[in-house]
Amino acid sequence: MTKIHRVESLENQERIKLFEMDNDYFPLPWSIESWRSLDLDSYSLFYLFNDKNLIGFALFHTLEGDTLAHLLKICVLPQYRGEGRGKAFLKGLLERLSVLGLEKVFLEVDFENFPAIAIYKDLGFENVHYQENYYGAGRHCFKMILSSL
Ligand SMILES: CC(C)(COP(=O)(O)OP(=O)(O)OC[C@H]1O[C@@H](n2cnc3c(N)ncnc32)[C@H](O)[C@@H]1OP(=O)(O)O)[C@@H](O)C(=O)NCCC(=O)NCCS
Repeated sequence: MTKIHRVESLENQERIKLFEMDNDYFPLPWSIESWRSLDLDSYSLFYLFNDKNLIGFALFHTLEGDTLAHLLKICVLPQYRGEGRGKAFLKGLLERLSVLGLEKVFLEVDFENFPAIAIYKDLGFENVHYQENYYGAGRHCFKMILSSL
């Protein structure tokens, strides 16, 4: 049974754990300094739990009064992937953002990240731009937007 939890405050140990997961699973991870200075007033952070185990997280940039959110990171730990949890997690997150007054979400995704692209398309995101070498040489990205939450 999975549950989504919105994170209201972060201990130093959690920032280190997020930094480690970011390094393990994302093409452009943040520095430890960025994780240490992450301010939850302008970013929305969510954890995904399976029973009591943390199995994923998602981070959005959400500015007060703005209706556009930027999905920066979403991840499910490798041993929990491929069983619909990633899609259910993002679907649940979009519902939460809608309740918070957000209307649109945009994101960048590696052009070869097929599981992520499958989820985004399934949930209604559309490609709006293709940017070459976004993640480094030969590592292109799609920019996608969900225009109505
Ligand atoms: C992206 C991520 C969250 C997906 O989590 P998940 O729990 O495996 O996702 P789901 O099981 O819900 O869905 C995966 C979808 O990808 C599809 N898929 C898997 N491999 C695929 C492939 N090679 N080609 C096309 N589609 C593929 C699955 O069929 C499924 O789609 P469906 O529900 O329509 O069948 C996970 O892979 C992850 O954490 N990746 C590392 C971080 C990352 O890349 N995040 C996204 C960029 S910010």
